[in-house]
Amino acid sequence: MIIKSAQFVCSSAKVNQCPENNNIPEYAFIGRSNVGKSSLINMLCDHKGLAKVSGTPGKTQLINHFNINNGEWYLVDLPGYGYAKVPLGEKARFQSIITDYALKRKQLTMFFVLVDVRHSMQTVDKNFMEFLGLNKVPFAIVFTKADKIKASEVEANMAKYRSEMLKSWQTLPPMFLTSSSKKSGKDLLLAYIDSVNQQVKKA
Ligand code: GTP
Ligand code: MG
Repeated sequence: MIIKSAQFVCSSAKVNQCPENNNIPEYAFIGRSNVGKSSLINMLCDHKGLAKVSGTPGKTQLINHFNINNGEWYLVDLPGYGYAKVPLGEKARFQSIITDYALKRKQLTMFFVLVDVRHSMQTVDKNFMEFLGLNKVPFAIVFTKADKIKASEVEANMAKYRSEMLKSWQTLPPMFLTSSSKKSGKDLLLAYIDSVNQQVKKA
């Protein structure tokens, strides 16, 4: 799939303020603050300033909707969770935005849970994936920042992540490896979204 157009639609503080894009599948990007959610969105859309990026965790504070290919699907940038340096009050507010969005947003088709490929499995990510599983919300894992370590380390870390996942999951979710700086991993991720869009259309 090629992204021909990507437009920012709006930022919403609450789920009930989100756009009424009925019947348009929605893909949400989630993960720890600073993991690279907004950067990945910009890389996928080939549009540098589309989602706001910052080295300071807690940059994305609202639910941000982007209209892809004139209403074919929506991409959603969410605030990050679980970063120690984000003030407690903010963290709680982000958490309730995320939980509400996951449980109440009818258009939500799936989450992409972003994890930094340099790190081992973090408890916040594990808990969030278990929460999604319990609530039957589909998700895939996207490893980010592949450019920051050697290819051999990337392989080893991903293998370790898979075996950690298998301790609590019978089947593994789809997994993708990306680097927003090197623009890698884009084609496979977009092809996957395309295949899910086709399934949604048939259902
Ligand atoms: P919040 O909105 O604060 O939750 O963060 P976020 O997950 O949206 O992260 P963001 O995209 O703002 O990126 C955080 C920092 O990581 C920025 O300094 C980015 O430039 C950097 N970054 C993101 N992706 C990559 C990547 O693939 N490679 C490298 N080297 N840096 C990256
Ligand atoms: Mg962000």
